[in-house]
Amino acid sequence: EIPLLYSFNSENVTEKGVTFLELRDGHVIARPRTSWPEWYESDTNRPQLRFSPFQAWMNDPNGICFIDGRYHLFYQFHPVESEWGPMHWGHAVSDDLYRWIHLPVFLHPEQNLWSLGATGGAFSGSAFVGQDGKLSFYYTERLPAYDLFKDYKEVQKRVLPSADLLRPDANKLVLVDGPSGSSHDLRDPKVWYDAACGAYRMVLGAAIDGDPAVLLYGSEDGEDWKFMSVLYRASEHFRQHGARCVECPDFFELNGHYVLVMGFVGYTEPETGRHNLLYAQVGTFEGDRFMPATPALQELDFGTDFYAMQSFRAKDRQIAFAWLFNWEFRKPPGSPYSGELSLPRVLGLDAERNLTMMPEKGCQRLRAHNLAQTAPYQFACEPRRPVELSLEGDLDGVQIVARGSDGESFRLAHSARRLELTVAEDNGEIKYRSAPLKLERLTLFFDRGVVEVFANGGAVCGTRRTYKITDLTTLEVKSADSSRIESYEAWSYNSAWSN
Ligand code: FRU
Repeated sequence: EIPLLYSFNSENVTEKGVTFLELRDGHVIARPRTSWPEWYESDTNRPQLRFSPFQAWMNDPNGICFIDGRYHLFYQFHPVESEWGPMHWGHAVSDDLYRWIHLPVFLHPEQNLWSLGATGGAFSGSAFVGQDGKLSFYYTERLPAYDLFKDYKEVQKRVLPSADLLRPDANKLVLVDGPSGSSHDLRDPKVWYDAACGAYRMVLGAAIDGDPAVLLYGSEDGEDWKFMSVLYRASEHFRQHGARCVECPDFFELNGHYVLVMGFVGYTEPETGRHNLLYAQVGTFEGDRFMPATPALQELDFGTDFYAMQSFRAKDRQIAFAWLFNWEFRKPPGSPYSGELSLPRVLGLDAERNLTMMPEKGCQRLRAHNLAQTAPYQFACEPRRPVELSLEGDLDGVQIVARGSDGESFRLAHSARRLELTVAEDNGEIKYRSAPLKLERLTLFFDRGVVEVFANGGAVCGTRRTYKITDLTTLEVKSADSSRIESYEAWSYNSAWSN
């Protein structure tokens, strides 16, 4: 039985040190689960259908896995502040990907980084389920004290969890140095077993001679790793526009194809000024080579807040979460926490071999009321509840206008063949545009300031986190000819954090 408790008591924080959040004498010093609904629902900025930490800072999802019928989520966590800092792995478990139970911190930084006056810690990594069903984790430890504080060093480690998955049983250094041409950025391992060659494979985010790159490693036993090849090297464009390396590479098989997903940290898109974007490429993988089916990278999100995506296999589905990333306005002042995850998304490929992402359907069990019945194409949202709107038909030229008590919050329009998301922010409107598409299906979720858009079965997605208007009063669908809309659904949702 996993304890339904979480440790976040102020007397537990004796110093800003890594001893915080320990299991003590076999107990978790805890805040009972019964206090969560209050805590989550009363915070007007807290998404209700999405994961966020009870308190303090989170970023990337890590080590996600489906074990003994339950989903385990680990995440980049700085447990003592709602700012990024020395990284730990937070931990939560769920039966359905929506209702989470917080568990004690799983990994701590190797060193007391506060006393070194530097940051680093247990960086991102992933879960690996072996042929024998045994679970292990691979992650990056960043050692900031390396080279007399002048630099950092990123090494890869393998962790075997305890049987209850609550703590690491063994933690072993498995890779120290990168190949020639690589820099000190060498992180975020994703490991799989390649049945065709009977060996382990790992990808790492890196830079080669200054270009963002994904490196491929091989191993016979999962511990002794050898560099095999540069699996992917980004075009000069990315380095010229600030990209320092690839982060959080994900590489997996999907319906007979291989999919590579990468984040380019430091990159600023010249046309839009957006930072740190996520891309996918679909192709084939043979030996140590990845051969993309098309040269162009697929942009995974036309908004700003979808980064560090990690996918995992659960039975026959590939499911992913991403960090709703925005360094610009990452939390309102005084917020007890910072960072949250996207909806869980089921991955697929469309006829053009684009990666598609659609919300995992289990959220439908949290639907509260059918809002589409009240009036056609315009309805009142229920205060503070998440809302979903889905349309199908010939949607070219359709517009969705979302209003809050302070006026228009955002507008999603299909205009000049593109989806255009306009969000009202304090310093004016911002606009994001997708690649051209003929719009036939559209699903939109709004949840206390999180806008997630899925078009044409998830071939085009857009995400924006806003804090300006976190509660909607009405949603309106405008269309020059509403007879072209074949189906129209709208739902309010219950909170996933209520009991
Ligand atoms: C991506 C990232 C990873 C790193 C982690 C550190 O957001 O920078 O590359 O492992 O976050 O928190």
